[in-house]
Amino acid sequence: MSYKSIYRESIADPEKFWSEQAQNLDWFHVPDKALSTDPDGLHRWFAGGKLNTCYLALDRHVAAGRGDQTALVYDSPVTQTFSRFTYREVLHETARLAGALHALGVGKGDRVIIYMPMIPQVVFAMLACARLGAIHSVVFGGFAAHELALRIDDACPKVILTASAGIEFDKIIPYKPIVDKALNDAAHSVSNVLVYQRRMCLADLNEPRDRDWELLVREAAPADFVALDATDPLYILYTSGTTGKPKGIVRDNGGHAVALAFSMRHIYQCGPGDVFWAASDVGWVVGHSYIVYAPLITGCTTILYEGKPVRTPDAGAFWRVIAEYGVKTMFTAPTAIRAIKKEDPDGLLKNMYDLSALQYLFLAGERCDVATLQWAQQLLPGKPVIDHWWQTESGWPMLVTPIENGLVQPIKPGSAGRPVPGFQVHILDQNAQPLPPDEEGAVGVKLPLPPGCMPTLWKAAEVFRESYLSAYPGYYFTGDGGYQDADGYTFITGRIDDVINVAGHRLSTSDMEEIVAAHPAVAECAVIGVADALKGQVPLGFVVLKTGIQMDELALEAELVAMVRERLGALACFKKALLVNRLPKTRSGKILRRVMRNIADDKPYNAPSTIEDTAVLSEIEAVFKHIPTLKSR
Ligand code: COA
Ligand code: AMP
Repeated sequence: MSYKSIYRESIADPEKFWSEQAQNLDWFHVPDKALSTDPDGLHRWFAGGKLNTCYLALDRHVAAGRGDQTALVYDSPVTQTFSRFTYREVLHETARLAGALHALGVGKGDRVIIYMPMIPQVVFAMLACARLGAIHSVVFGGFAAHELALRIDDACPKVILTASAGIEFDKIIPYKPIVDKALNDAAHSVSNVLVYQRRMCLADLNEPRDRDWELLVREAAPADFVALDATDPLYILYTSGTTGKPKGIVRDNGGHAVALAFSMRHIYQCGPGDVFWAASDVGWVVGHSYIVYAPLITGCTTILYEGKPVRTPDAGAFWRVIAEYGVKTMFTAPTAIRAIKKEDPDGLLKNMYDLSALQYLFLAGERCDVATLQWAQQLLPGKPVIDHWWQTESGWPMLVTPIENGLVQPIKPGSAGRPVPGFQVHILDQNAQPLPPDEEGAVGVKLPLPPGCMPTLWKAAEVFRESYLSAYPGYYFTGDGGYQDADGYTFITGRIDDVINVAGHRLSTSDMEEIVAAHPAVAECAVIGVADALKGQVPLGFVVLKTGIQMDELALEAELVAMVRERLGALACFKKALLVNRLPKTRSGKILRRVMRNIADDKPYNAPSTIEDTAVLSEIEAVFKHIPTLKSR
């Protein structure tokens, strides 16, 4: 069937369309109704259906004779460990870990925080929670103790799963002290911390709270899967929003499984036995959906890569992995391609490997600049490089250039493609009215959202409504701006809120402002994202000192950098803070961050009529003129 007819069906009768898609899964009880409304008045898919995501990802494949197929490849150039796990082995490990968790009192609906590096045990951990109906919340390893503590206090987990350390290039990062500090800072107390000891850095265990993972699992009896409601939460994934507090995105079991299975077939062109690789981290939504759940639900081989695109050991790392395991479809962030391009501009290292198995390269996580797309296209002739757009909230792609019978429709550089079946993506004006082609506005998705998208926020249905549904009635507001051309291709131009994307990592500038403003010398500040040649965007701070305080700019910068690193984490890449006399503001005191961003990126801007004093804009422009190196960092 053509993209157009599938898309049309998905929009004309979503309930019929998604009910048919749901039939591709093994339900314990098939849902009677596709779409309904919950007590909060929010849309829910497949209420009444019963299933288990771990069963779909493991047990049913083993039962169907796929037990000896490789489910998971662990490729870790940083530890020189390369291993494979069959579906039977992953099931065995997962069931015993689930048994160990069960013995610690973890059951359906309990939360479990997972703070781990990219090792196979993190996959077993997520699946073990899914098996028991416990709700996992994976926290990316680059977040500092304070951020982990915020998530502990919101999710109130019974147990934390961690490992003794992670590795970044060749730097060993002990995780356990971060967990200890977070638990010390958090108000909520957990009964147990399970620690997977990695030989290169053993953690001190504080018995009886801390338990040795391997010892516990060795003694555990395997646990069976539990039948769950389709609407029961599978996980909470915290993401940066416009407030200082991370938002707990909830993902349910039923809609998630249906959407991911659909996406593997119709977007990524993968079926059982295919090798799929998402070079991301399980701490991000891409890792949840496309390292763990989607490929395993589909019966693919998935790759867990504990390395980087460069310097582990070189810029040929990705090509080695593709060749070694016969990757058919790969997914990464444009930043990774830019990092490879920087170190191997002519792509010579690629010639050392046989990439014949590779059919498609998908890019997402941040805006893909045309130069990066074209460089990748030239490097991989005959293998479509496809930009596509989605978010933690959606859980799977909302825009992509469709592939029909193996043929990719025309790709328009700079565009993330056309709406994925189920998504009605519109460009809206301030009154929630769709704009004509080529006019830029807010990107909204008409309600109801298809299965797989977040149904609500953890313990915060009202915040969900306010943050996403109230600004443009009838639509889910994505936080992105963009425009659509007359052919229906959408061009995402960037966030129109305080979220920035640094090396494919989503961060909130308001989080950083809160930290910077806490410095005793700072009267007020603004943090904006400015263009960066490698990381897409990096944060830049503007700081006004308290009256009467004098401080050396570089000394202040060093202190602020250290504070952001300590509170938020190294991944923030907050490295630059500039002293200014005042910030551009409206008469009501709102800081004009968007205008500052445009000045920083050399883009045209309109100062609003409500500006307090236009002269301040010249002062900001002068700052950039005097620091030409800022943009080339
Ligand atoms: N645990 C602990 N620290 C981490 C971390 C983790 N999981 N991930 C990143 N960090 C730290 C890094 O060590 C670095 O610390 P440093 O300032 O002490 O050097 C800091 O956070 C910034 O990391 P990053 O922005 O990743 O920069 P980098 O120079 O280490 O690597 C790239 C640059 C481009 C190679 C890397 O960002 C990359 O591979 N990006 C692709 C991202 C991606 O796949 N995103 C998924 C979205 S789909
Ligand atoms: P995250 O929730 O971490 O996946 O980040 C989602 C945000 O990343 C989106 O709201 C966009 O701002 C940005 N993003 C992701 N993919 C793309 C893309 N293909 N093009 C432009 N922006 C993207």
